[in-house]
Amino acid sequence: MDILTETKHLQNRLDDLRNSQMSIGLVPTMGYLHDGHLSLIRKARSENDAVVTTIFVNPLQFAETEDLDTYPTDIEKDTFLASEAGTDLLFTPTNEEMFCDDVLTTVSVQEISTVLEGASRPTHFSGVATIVAKLFNIVGVCSAYFGEKDWQQIQVIKRMAQDLSYRVEIKRCPIIREKDGLAMSSRNVYLTKEQRKQASHIPESLLKAHEKIIEGERQSSVIKGIISERLDRSSAIDIDYVELVNGENLSITDQIDEETRVLVAVRIGAARLIDNMNALEGLNL
Ligand code: PAJ
Repeated sequence: MDILTETKHLQNRLDDLRNSQMSIGLVPTMGYLHDGHLSLIRKARSENDAVVTTIFVNPLQFAETEDLDTYPTDIEKDTFLASEAGTDLLFTPTNEEMFCDDVLTTVSVQEISTVLEGASRPTHFSGVATIVAKLFNIVGVCSAYFGEKDWQQIQVIKRMAQDLSYRVEIKRCPIIREKDGLAMSSRNVYLTKEQRKQASHIPESLLKAHEKIIEGERQSSVIKGIISERLDRSSAIDIDYVELVNGENLSITDQIDEETRVLVAVRIGAARLIDNMNALEGLNL
């Protein structure tokens, strides 16, 4: 694996690969890699001739009150893990490399960026869309891999790629979970031991809801109630939202069908955690 920090160098290497008719898989990350990230790299490895993994803690997607300054990093471990999982080119640009001065140009995807995560984090998705657009422009024709853990993020990126005619195929990868079902996240390190225990209520609440759906329940309000009740049992958990939406356009649904996605966001101590599932399929444990 080669490590590159300059855009020009990465582009030169990618031009060479494409001249040799090689297909390229792109895995954008903010580092502090765990098995969720690595599943994306492995999938990209299995479907492409060459894999580019990027590590960049993108300041544009953090609000001023958020955890940009404390976001966990471990570049040595990340380098080892990214290589083991099958990365060929690891792109780790500095802030200066990505943004020459003030950022004057941004990308924002209307409507679907303003609900759910976007309601709590109004500038978040334009930060994500801008950096991902930049990575798509740098890397060019490729398949790009994103995790279903960030369900809304995938919908925003898919829509951006479609609206702006990027020659990038967006690939979705399932959520990778800890043994007790908690979705893996770089932010799980913020949890104390006790908070970590309480966090298992999140997947448990989704499992309970899925059981009820399997039994035939089709009313969104009932399912929301089951999840909220379960989460409220833990005083450490502060619910941000529990919502059932159409998985593609993120509009709220009253009745459950194959397209329905159940999304949850909570705060536990210093961490804001999210999870989701297809209403009929449930969790992949
Ligand atoms: P980050 O949180 O580092 O996540 C990078 C990718 O890993 C995202 O596509 C995310 O959905 C995926 N991922 C994280 N946890 C996962 C899990 N438990 N199972 C499966 N996939 C998981 O998401 C971002 O970075 C940034 O917003 C980024 C897209 C890189 C733009 O800055």
